[in-house]
Amino acid sequence: MKNNIILSTKRLYLRELTLEDAQLLIDLNSDPEVTRYTGDGAVKDLEDSKRILIDIIFPQYLNEMGRWAVHLKADDEFIGWCGLKYQAEQDEVDLGYRFFKKHWNKGYAVESAKAVIDYGINILKLKNIIARAAKENKASINVLKKIGMKYLSVEMCCHDPAEKYTLK
Ligand SMILES: CC(C)(COP(=O)(O)OP(=O)(O)OC[C@H]1O[C@@H](n2cnc3c(N)ncnc32)[C@H](O)[C@@H]1OP(=O)(O)O)[C@@H](O)C(=O)NCCC(=O)NCCS
Repeated sequence: MKNNIILSTKRLYLRELTLEDAQLLIDLNSDPEVTRYTGDGAVKDLEDSKRILIDIIFPQYLNEMGRWAVHLKADDEFIGWCGLKYQAEQDEVDLGYRFFKKHWNKGYAVESAKAVIDYGINILKLKNIIARAAKENKASINVLKKIGMKYLSVEMCCHDPAEKYTLK
């Protein structure tokens, strides 16, 4: 198992990302199907990936939250990320997740997201957690429903309609 483990579930563990993970983020975003609904796209190169880690991902760790690497306990494989992000503009904590396609439909998003929201509510004592998913992203919307989040509204997100879900 790797260092910096935040959470553990039956099949998975979640840990903080480090600069050594820069290539993994490139690999994950290199599949257009993975980024189809996420509003970002391919990560250009190692420099770009390190900039994302330093400017976007690491600052969240100061709030005890963030996008965490998800690994299989069985063989330590990195399968993607899942975690919480504080969005200052809206004063909201957002749940997000993303996995390599070969690991879709095995229940990993539900398993990791459930653990993440339990951690947010019970350990971080957050009052609420929200999530947004493109209307067409049926897999993601299914995950949100399965972990007990409720539909709140439709918002424009990067020029496309996104469904907003809320835990409370
Ligand atoms: C969204 C995503 C994280 C889901 O991960 P996952 O590990 O496959 O999710 P799970 O297996 O836990 O659950 C997915 C559920 O959606 C269902 N599902 C999957 N694809 C679907 C589709 N196209 N239409 C309807 N339901 C679908 C699955 O059957 C499953 O429900 P079930 O357990 O009742 O069968 C994964 O598809 C992904 O990484 N997508 C790219 C990144 C992304 O879009 N992230 C979310 C941005 S909001």
